Amino acid sequence: MSVKLNDSFTRGFVKESELEYIAPQAEAALSLLKSKKGPGSDFVGWVDLPVSYDRDEYARVKDAALRIRSMCSVFIVIGIGGSYLGARAAIEFVKSNNYNALAKNTPKIYFAGNTISPSALAELLEICRDEDVCVNVISKSGTTTEPAVAFRIFRGFLEEKYGIEGAKKRIFVTTDRARGTLKAFADRAGYETFVVPDDIGGRYSVLTSVGLLPIAVAGIDIDAMMSGAATSRDAFLREGSDNDCLRYASLRNILYRKGKTTEILVGYEPSLALFAEWWKQLYGESEGKDGKGIYPSSVMFSTDLHSLGQYIQDGLRNIFETVLDIKTPAATVTVPHDPDNIDGLNFLSGRTLGDINRTAMMGTLIAHADGGVPNIVIEANDTSAGSFGELVYFFELACAVSGYMLGVNPFDQPGVEAYKKNMFALLGKPGYEELRDTLQKRL
Ligand code: PA5
Repeated sequence: MSVKLNDSFTRGFVKESELEYIAPQAEAALSLLKSKKGPGSDFVGWVDLPVSYDRDEYARVKDAALRIRSMCSVFIVIGIGGSYLGARAAIEFVKSNNYNALAKNTPKIYFAGNTISPSALAELLEICRDEDVCVNVISKSGTTTEPAVAFRIFRGFLEEKYGIEGAKKRIFVTTDRARGTLKAFADRAGYETFVVPDDIGGRYSVLTSVGLLPIAVAGIDIDAMMSGAATSRDAFLREGSDNDCLRYASLRNILYRKGKTTEILVGYEPSLALFAEWWKQLYGESEGKDGKGIYPSSVMFSTDLHSLGQYIQDGLRNIFETVLDIKTPAATVTVPHDPDNIDGLNFLSGRTLGDINRTAMMGTLIAHADGGVPNIVIEANDTSAGSFGELVYFFELACAVSGYMLGVNPFDQPGVEAYKKNMFALLGKPGYEELRDTLQKRL
């Protein structure tokens, strides 16, 4: 087990007694989750997923990933929100944020359908023009506009390039087992389909086929990832004062009640930026409702120490940080010795960048705590697939427990519908005529 919580830098802000007082609430939230009787309990399939996942589906994912790798040089993953962030986070976390530039025996992987930007889509089509391409469209509901539009365009592109039969072998659909336009379409067209389990919502779905297919195409060891998640499940799905997952949920809750309404996830590696995006969606959609919730934000240091660092050190004191401390970096780079020492850097000669990065982290932890910003540190061994699985389960579980402690349903997202309704009405979708008239008068 590599994931651990270090609370050395929250001690000046939260007393041990406060953690003791709140512990029964965290344990009650965990019991409620396990009992499957809490709000949104139809969507807690991810709790046992690391041990109870569908072995046949899993084998099909591995098989399809091998075929995709042999068929294409570019793999397009179409999806938005929980239907792409987990896969992208995993690929950057385990491989690199420069995965595409470095990929040798695996296809380059691009993500589409997560914006409505015409230039982003046109660029991707241009990238694909002279490449061999496969597409994985992912949508649990099967009706989300952004991926649906991107899929229609990429389907046309593939059919023009390979013919209808050729395209059929290159299109992989991940969607609901039985419902939705995409499922009906895939069945009619004869595309290979993968299932988003009924009881797992988008933002908790990275360890289902939603995330696993693109992650396996990138050549990442998904067995290690699932076993990392199972390790976290063993360690954290239990009551007890030594449970770091409950401690994280409790610390966040105490800090929130003290007016710390923004949480900043901090990484010290650029390859953690997409992990932070995944984490923001998980916490933002799960907790931000009914006029409540911590606002999740993120920074990558030391880069952002030269921009947002000023605000964090010295601005409004309504923030706390959660620092991802990856113990062993993926590479070792040493500062060379220079006999002339004109740049005055010889005090660093022979030191590794990993060591300097860690020292920057220690200095920042002390500075930010001194500046009135509590820092929770979450440690993990490395950026392996196993550590990714461990962290995913740790944060999912802490998120669900936090949501129950806050008194919200951590598994719905009613707020996402508001913009969709207005967009459909303004675009003239049948059935929205009345709303369209009302909105147009306001523009
Ligand atoms: O977490 C969620 O449920 C959402 O972010 C969805 O993943 C997102 O809206 C995409 O939905 P769908 O997979 O139905 O296209």
